[in-house]
Amino acid sequence: MVMSRVAYVDGQYLSHRSAVVHIEDRGYQFADGVYEVIAVAGGRLVDDELHLVRLARSLSELRITAPMSDAALRIVMREAVRRNGVRAGIVYLQITRGVARRDHAFPKSAQPALVVTSRRKAPVDPRAAADGISVITIPDIRWQRCDIKSISLLPNVLGKQRAREAGAYEAWQIDHQGRISEGTSTNAWIVTSDGAVVTRQADSAILNGITRLAVLDIIRAEGYGFAERPFTVTEAKAAAEAFLTSTVVDLLPVVRIDGNPVGDGRPGPLTRRLREHYLAHAAAAA
Ligand code: PDD
Repeated sequence: MVMSRVAYVDGQYLSHRSAVVHIEDRGYQFADGVYEVIAVAGGRLVDDELHLVRLARSLSELRITAPMSDAALRIVMREAVRRNGVRAGIVYLQITRGVARRDHAFPKSAQPALVVTSRRKAPVDPRAAADGISVITIPDIRWQRCDIKSISLLPNVLGKQRAREAGAYEAWQIDHQGRISEGTSTNAWIVTSDGAVVTRQADSAILNGITRLAVLDIIRAEGYGFAERPFTVTEAKAAAEAFLTSTVVDLLPVVRIDGNPVGDGRPGPLTRRLREHYLAHAAAAA
């Protein structure tokens, strides 16, 4: 049976095809909103608690009122998963400041607008996982609050497109001091020649990925050496291993940076182990 897709829009479950938002939604006009992407494994939400904590933080930083409680949001997300028959996939949740006549300052009486969708997702390309992927590096031209998961993603869109046109999977963004902040939709990691895993600390230059937090927990539990600190492009190119993480791609080995092989140009052993651990963690939600 072919199931037609359903979207939750402000209190109603609508046919995905005909679901629409108002032309004066502030998300549409100002990118005045936030979002989350949550993985679904075995029909269950993966690490939804952590996503809801991050969502609450993004909302409060932008002074947008949560449209409903976390418990109610969970019910809507689960219902979106169920109605779309998703076993393995994602939930997309977006909250904007609402609909109001266009004026930059906050409207006096807008209701926050909530959209929740869910869709199936094919597993990550097994070749990308087995052989690794390439990244390019680009200047980080984003704002100074990348810790907020805002829907304002234009630099990320342009960066990802540059990566695609260069035949690479992702673009790692470089700050003014030559240090890598993160990918356009992923966090960046390296493994040093003495086996320590390094990823940038969760400051305002990066989004504190939920996958990042899960991988850090795994690293601690397994007793691997690690450091949360910035690393330069030069250090990354000389690293023993590299990888990236996100809800959508899990953990993928990075084997080329700007065309230069990382290590021997093949996914590193620690990267492969961390990927196995992370997949087990995500599957445990099911
Ligand atoms: N992107 N950094 C950026 C800029 C991101 O947009 C994302 C996620 C991440 C990884 O975060 P997490 O592990 O919580 O997915 C890091 C989502 C998936 C997206 O925009 O589609």
